[in-house]
Amino acid sequence: MIIGSEKDVTTAVLGELERAKNPRLRQIMSAFIRHLHDFAREVKLTEEEFQAAIGYIVALGKHTSETHNEAVLMSGSLGFSTLICLLNNGNRGQTETDANLLGPFWRMDSPPTPNGGSIVRSPTPGPALFVDAWFRDTQGKPIEGAEVDVWQSSPEGFYENQDPVQADMNLRGKFTTDKDGHISFRSVKPAGYPIPVDGPVGELLRAQGRHNMRPAHLHFLVYKPGFKTLISQLYVPDDEHIETDVQFGVTRHLIGDYIRHEEACTQAPDVKSPWHSLQHAFVMERGTARLPKPPITGKSQGERPAIPHLEPAE
Ligand SMILES: [Fe+2]
Repeated sequence: MIIGSEKDVTTAVLGELERAKNPRLRQIMSAFIRHLHDFAREVKLTEEEFQAAIGYIVALGKHTSETHNEAVLMSGSLGFSTLICLLNNGNRGQTETDANLLGPFWRMDSPPTPNGGSIVRSPTPGPALFVDAWFRDTQGKPIEGAEVDVWQSSPEGFYENQDPVQADMNLRGKFTTDKDGHISFRSVKPAGYPIPVDGPVGELLRAQGRHNMRPAHLHFLVYKPGFKTLISQLYVPDDEHIETDVQFGVTRHLIGDYIRHEEACTQAPDVKSPWHSLQHAFVMERGTARLPKPPITGKSQGERPAIPHLEPAE
């Protein structure tokens, strides 16, 4: 098609899409082209702004490596990751769901750990945390034999694969649910952490006057054939950024029941007060068990990274 006016461009691209054999690809690409072209029309995108946008996409790629995924951070910072999660779980976002963001730091092959064991694998400061989690189907029946990966940042705000100071696999473990669908483990209370701001995501946050903090949370990934793989996080309610997560991950249902204890801890005499406990019952939907591709595969070397905290605009 020879282009006669700006409107013809959209028609021409949509026309060429008809050649695509895959109907789902046709559906996705035609909606994408229509919205993309209409977006440029609505904001009257200038040539300078268009060039900046291209540079931005290039920068997303350049800032992604084996140890860092800028695209995941960008998607989260735009609320897109949570939107996709809610559109695909909990009756398309209409009912409560335990599903949440994967984030960039999940690793395959977390060390198998017996129930009741500790995931602290190198000296890690911070108050002790004892976690009990139950996994049930939508009828409330316990799910036995599910593999549960847990992972979290240290109280200094680093995952071990970002942090050369921590032992390999520190604050990670793989548990198997017992006949009651239950796992338990010991850890330290997680802390909130800043997301890196040395790339295009940082530029976006500064331009918007936003801070770069995630509220403290524990991650879960639960795998059992016959069930849709459950990816979840449990957030710490007293975190100062619980209302303003830079990745928009906090849903009301996943604000965890973290309880602070001043009394002596009977289950572990070495524990100093205060210590914390957390209990949560997760629901898994029937479906296909699939593992995601780990967003990063490498481990940071050298110095512990210095990640600045951005101050939010008033
Ligand atoms: Fe996280």
